[in-house]
Formats: sequence, structure tokens, C-alpha cells
Amino acid sequence: MSIPVIIDCDPGIDDVMALLLAFVRPELDIRLITTEAGNQTQDKTAYNARSFLSYMNQEIEVARGLEQPLFVNLEVADDVHGESGLGDVIFPEPNFAESDRTAINALYETIMTSDEPIVLIATGPLTNIGALLLAHPEVKENIRYISFMGGAAVGGNMSPTAEFNVYVDPHAADVVFRSGIPIVMSGLDVTHKAFLDEQDLKRIEAIGTDLTTTLVELMTFYTKAATQTAFHEENFATNVRLHDLCAVGYVVEPELFQGDDCYVAIETQGELTKGTTVVDYAQSLPHAKNVHVLHTVNREKFVDMFIDAIKNAEQLIKGGHSHVEKN
Ligand code: BDR
Ligand code: CA
Repeated sequence: MSIPVIIDCDPGIDDVMALLLAFVRPELDIRLITTEAGNQTQDKTAYNARSFLSYMNQEIEVARGLEQPLFVNLEVADDVHGESGLGDVIFPEPNFAESDRTAINALYETIMTSDEPIVLIATGPLTNIGALLLAHPEVKENIRYISFMGGAAVGGNMSPTAEFNVYVDPHAADVVFRSGIPIVMSGLDVTHKAFLDEQDLKRIEAIGTDLTTTLVELMTFYTKAATQTAFHEENFATNVRLHDLCAVGYVVEPELFQGDDCYVAIETQGELTKGTTVVDYAQSLPHAKNVHVLHTVNREKFVDMFIDAIKNAEQLIKGGHSHVEKN
């Protein structure tokens, strides 16, 4: 049985790895990809998505999203993902054009015409989805749930309490978290436990293909860049965090994860806390639980799932061009 999904992303190094995982999983029927301004500008994330899809031989509509967060100026993560958004790796020129639909129109039409409720996988800021819900709240009825990488119950990576995807567009996250759509939140609580260690990287290197060389390049850039910023703590030096892959991994193998249902609100303005997901574990606020907050992952099985995906991805690439250059 296939699961109809839409992926909204800001590629972004871990975003392309999450896309790779999604492409190889037969359970997923990817109906559309929309891009966010986040890790880099909209121009760059939209280009990177098409370029990675071309490399992976995937023919899926890619629709460009909004250029800026709803009410604040865009802050990109060039310190972690590089000037291009994909470190030093240059994938081939895209071999197909951007959709002539905007992300908002494409999301609206794809969701409303779907025969079954859609699972939305979101691995970037929530600007497009927030704007979609403001413009067309009726889409809620045909969204099964949103699998979102972002937020944290404890500790942030952009400030003491805020995670990047929520921090970049807290107002959009606020709209989404108040929408009533079921949300599964892969926040830093779980994504910091979903990492590759040195042994895992060696297993990937040992596969010995053009793709694995490229992935190791990307992960090395991401790891090195992250240790030079305050973005992650120092054990990132050897551990590669697979943040965005959790949002895809949960949809295909939810039994690898554990979490709790909680009420979660977004702090949109706090001087110290802007972009924080306030997770009411203590049930001290009089609100219904709106989010399934993941806190644990079976790391070994999760890593195996990713490594199997890398092996299987070769089949996708074989049919098309797989030439990758380095800066
Ligand atoms: C999130 O921020 C981005 O830089 C990553 O792609 C991921 O979506 C982690 O906080
Ligand atoms: Ca991302």
C-alpha cells in the first residue's frame, strides 16, 4: 500500500539525504516537492532540489515556494550548508524546469485533488505550509498528518531554546501548530540521537560508488562547518546528525521511534526565546494535545535503513547521468 506524500524542503545537505531516503522507499508515492527559503535562499534551494532530482533520475514536479518568512527577514544557514546550500558538491545542471505553479497553488491543487489524505513531510521552515493554511484552510481536511523536522522540547541550535526551522519562521510555525492538523515533531530531542558515527561512515565509504563519495563529501562539509559554529555541540566532530531523515523515516518505519502526545505552542516573539517550541509535558496549560513529540529512535535500525537506501539508490542513478563535480 503506497502512502501519498508531498515533501516541503530547503536543500540543504540533510534535506537531500532525506530526499534520497524518500526516493528509494517503495511505500511512498511522492506527488510533489515544494521548496522553502531556509538553509539558503529560495533561488538556491529550488535549484538544488531540481539538480538533486536530476542526479537521482527522479521526475517529480518541483514548485518554488515563498522567498521570505511571513513576517521576519530570512536568516540562512550558510555557515552549516555552504554558499550553495550543498557544501562543495556540484550536482549536474537540472534537466527539467521548475513547475509553472507556485508552491502554494501546487500544494492546494495536489492536496484537494488527492483520492486519499496526504502526508506532508516538512524538512525546512514552515513558510509555505503556513501560507497555504492561511489562504486555503480547507486543505486541512485532506492532510492525514504533517511529519515535521523541527523544534525541540529541550535545548535549541539557534539559541538556547530554539531550533533552526522554527526559529527562521516562527509565525508560520505558529499557524501550522494551531491548525488542528495532526503533527509528528522530529525535534532535536530525537534527531540528535539519529546520527552516523565513524563506523557507520566507514560502512558507507566501503560501498565505494560515486554516490557514496558524494555523500561523504557532503557530510564532511556539514560536520566540519557545524563544529566551527555554535550550531551543534562538539561531539558533532565525529557524529553526523541525520535531522531531516527522521521526518521521512517516521513515515516509512514509525515503529523505530517513540514519543509522547503533548500540547505544543510556538513562542513567536520572546527576546530570548523567539522560535521556541514550548512543549507542555507537565500539562500545565488548558489546551488539547496537538503534537506527537518524538524523543527516541532505534539508532542502529535507523542507520541500517539509511545505508540500505544508499545501496538501493544506485539503481535509480544508473538510468541517468551520475557525474558529480567538486568545487
Ligand atoms: C534543521 O536545520 C537545517 O539546517 C537542517 O536542514 C534541518 O532541517 C536542523 O535544525
Ligand atoms: Ca532542512
